[in-house]
Amino acid sequence: MAARRGATVELREVTKRYGETVAVDRLSFTAPAGRICVLIGPSGCGKTTSLRMVNRLIEPTSGEILIDGHNVLQEDPTELRRRIGYAIQQVGLFPHRTIGQNVATVPELLGWPAARIRARVDELLSLIGFEPARMRDRYPAQLSGGERQRVGVARAMAAEPPVMLMDEPFAAVDPIVRERLQNEFLQLQRAQGITVIFVTHDIDEAIKLGDRIAIMRAGRLVQYAPPAELLAHPADDFVARFVGSDRGLKRLALLTVGGAELDPPVDPSRLGGAPVLSPAMTLRDALSQMLASEAQVGMVRDGDNYLGVLTLSHIGRLLRSEQPT
Ligand SMILES: Nc1ncnc2c1ncn2[C@@H]1O[C@H](COP(=O)(O)OP(=O)(O)O)[C@@H](O)[C@H]1O
Ligand SMILES: [Mg+2]
Repeated sequence: MAARRGATVELREVTKRYGETVAVDRLSFTAPAGRICVLIGPSGCGKTTSLRMVNRLIEPTSGEILIDGHNVLQEDPTELRRRIGYAIQQVGLFPHRTIGQNVATVPELLGWPAARIRARVDELLSLIGFEPARMRDRYPAQLSGGERQRVGVARAMAAEPPVMLMDEPFAAVDPIVRERLQNEFLQLQRAQGITVIFVTHDIDEAIKLGDRIAIMRAGRLVQYAPPAELLAHPADDFVARFVGSDRGLKRLALLTVGGAELDPPVDPSRLGGAPVLSPAMTLRDALSQMLASEAQVGMVRDGDNYLGVLTLSHIGRLLRSEQPT
């Protein structure tokens, strides 16, 4: 599968007013090409409005939105929407079209040759864990809610758009299915290199999926940062409350044993019941193993290679170093 490069999306001082209501207030940020940028914040803070201005389902009152440097306001809205994938919570699959036909919708509008459409549909169905021959000709009503949601994401990605907009696409499914959909989506996004702007109100989802997180409040951007930085240095009390009191542990889940400072190797016979940790393991998992074995340290091994010793006190220092700035 050819990895495509996504486009850069830049919002410059974008404002949307409805009479007296300022839904979005001078919002500026750049979603880098090929990355997932998450918009998060309380209900009514302007997430959906911001997202829908990018594909011009809503027209901004003022400001500019640039995709790879081109102002979307100067493009034909219909053309624009064919180049931008859009996935929402109530996917709105066409009930009288099969799964295959649903996924094929935009490629058909774009006039792709039938063979290319067929190949793309089967590729995407496989990528979302469906056996194409078994699922292609079913109708949406024959699928579970989680399955329909996956088809919605596949349909939004079908025409290899450089940009995808996703508005709480996984909010309506139960937590176990949601976790699977998130993992699948991450793989899909990495493989296709699409730029994604993703709206959620779930901080755990934001941390898991986001390369960058934009926290909004009352139409304004409060902080825009990679998840680890947001957790380590919330810009203010609002952000600190929003990311939660367990942000230290959340941050440990983003850091790996391999990236931590290790003490030099010590003779294993002197380490008692210390667990063996691998460099790829998260610090959160490492901590949980060390606590479970009541050990002060863990032995870090990469196969036969004994790299060093991770200490509880080092993890403790990492947890303490993250006070609000
Ligand atoms: N069509 C509209 N007319 C008037 N006010 C609106 C309209 N759409 C949204 N708003 C208001 O704009 C604000 C932001 O809404 P929205 O972007 O939907 O928030 P979110 O997606 O973060 O929950 C809210 O105060 C909402 O009531
Ligand atoms: Mg919304």
